[in-house]
Amino acid sequence: MKLSVQIAPKHTKGLLLANPVMTASGTFGYGTEYSHMFDIERLGAVVCKGTTLEPREGNPQPRLAETPSGMLNSIGWQNIGVRTLIEEKAPIWAGWKVPVIVNVAGETVDEYAKVSGLLDGVAGISGIEVNISCPNVKSGGAEFGTNPDSAAEVITAVRKATSLPIMVKLTPNTSDITRVAVAVAEAGADAISLINTLRGMAIEIDQRRPLLGNVFGGLSGPAIKPVALYMVYQVARVVDVPIAGCGGITNANDALEFIMAGASAVQVGTAGFTNPRAPLDVLEGIEKFMEDEGIKDISEIIGVAQR
Ligand SMILES: Cc1cc2nc3c(=O)[nH]c(=O)nc-3n(C[C@H](O)[C@H](O)[C@H](O)COP(=O)(O)O)c2cc1C
Repeated sequence: MKLSVQIAPKHTKGLLLANPVMTASGTFGYGTEYSHMFDIERLGAVVCKGTTLEPREGNPQPRLAETPSGMLNSIGWQNIGVRTLIEEKAPIWAGWKVPVIVNVAGETVDEYAKVSGLLDGVAGISGIEVNISCPNVKSGGAEFGTNPDSAAEVITAVRKATSLPIMVKLTPNTSDITRVAVAVAEAGADAISLINTLRGMAIEIDQRRPLLGNVFGGLSGPAIKPVALYMVYQVARVVDVPIAGCGGITNANDALEFIMAGASAVQVGTAGFTNPRAPLDVLEGIEKFMEDEGIKDISEIIGVAQR
């Protein structure tokens, strides 16, 4: 049975994953936190937390709220900064057989380019995921991803700054995600991941004020799956770069829906908070489905539901 997928076919070195299951950025730390819980090296790739030029503390507490079939988060860009990541995390990753993709965030085009440039050539880093889709910060982040021109501007700058394979993470908080997808593909994206969280809020009625310290946050989990799935379906029709589908994937059936909609790979996020082994369970479920259905190569079912 062939599970491997090439998610950067246009890139000179490519980015070959042993299987299509990745972790979603921000929900799996730096991978190191989970390595004692299960064999994370069996995954297709680990995507780490959003990384900025300087370390950041993130947004005020409270930053998490449970919602029906999902959760709201307003973590912001809490992270150790790119230099510490290179010094402390990359050497650990260099010893892993699973590729690690670093999620890159920035307030300006220049910051995206600088962070991406610093990651270029660092052992242990196989690719970057450019996060132009974070809803939880006041400047930068999602602002770039809501508009095709500004999204392309970021990717053009990142493309110049690094020779690493580039995946671009899109936001659903835009009027037409397909236009942004086409723009970033033309600007040099090797792959596209979608979706990031949907903007939302909750109110503490006793206190008569917003529950999250940041007022609004990003909705994730099963509640957003149908939205994410449809966006993957739409984007797959207009770009010829591989897609990583993300949003509410909890089990193998969810992942298979995304693959059949046109995703070459999937990312598992919020599900890991209730079941840390969720990404591996998803992988094993895909393997079982393929075995039961006599599917020899995962490519046989990528985009099979497109019509
Ligand atoms: C607590 C939390 C932190 C997140 N941090 C990031 C991040 O740093 N960068 C990013 O691109 N996406 C981030 N995301 C978005 C997820 O990677 C994913 O796109 C989204 O949660 C939808 O997938 P899910 O429903 O499987 O969680 C975060 C999500 C959560 C819940």
